[in-house]
Amino acid sequence: MIIAIDGPAGAGKSTVARLIAQKLGFLYIDTGAMYRALTLKALEKKLDIKNTASLIEMARDAKIDLTNNQDGSLKIFLGGRDVTSLIRQPRITNLVSDIAKIKEVRQVMLGLQRKLGKQRDSVLDGRDIGTVVFPDADKKFYLDAQFPERVKRRYKELQELGQKVTLKEVDVDLHNRDTIDSGREFAPLKKADDAIYIDTSRMSIDEVVEKISKEIKVKS
Ligand code: DC
Repeated sequence: MIIAIDGPAGAGKSTVARLIAQKLGFLYIDTGAMYRALTLKALEKKLDIKNTASLIEMARDAKIDLTNNQDGSLKIFLGGRDVTSLIRQPRITNLVSDIAKIKEVRQVMLGLQRKLGKQRDSVLDGRDIGTVVFPDADKKFYLDAQFPERVKRRYKELQELGQKVTLKEVDVDLHNRDTIDSGREFAPLKKADDAIYIDTSRMSIDEVVEKISKEIKVKS
């Protein structure tokens, strides 16, 4: 069984996807973390962000793996090295959308995401899961929230990670990423026609998890 959860940054996708996966005993696949791991690799190799050919070659060579911890959280590996914390750095967040917009880079990730999802029942969160990666997913959800609420949530999350950012910086980052992720030519952020739309602006995490759990049970 495949459950697809898409939406913009700060809508609550990753926390909700992790909890749903844990509840169902499914694998949780954070596809954003994969693009972040690639971005880390590009930075470590000091690749020119404008040199698309070198970024594509780097993506084809990359070895990305993921596992789930007991609490359902995700560990991500790049060439066998645990990069779970490193990929949350602001320098990664600032660049990730520019790497994720490259068609050939997305094709490499698509192959990996499909391979992982076919091995086990999975919950995937991302931007294009219900539209491109698994258009036949058993259940699709699109999580959204009003922009100021998403900024507040992302700000709180980064504070908890110990990152020194201002609300204004988070606002600018989310705005930039929304623009690039929704406007790109290949696999843009978009609600699948058959996805259930949930505005989480005034909902707690538990309420969103409850709503999704109910929808999943309706089907099975
Ligand atoms: O979910 P996140 O904020 O960690 O994702 C980081 C970036 O990766 C996001 O700004 C766009 C890109 N991404 C994507 O293009 N497609 C996905 N399926 C997941 C993430």
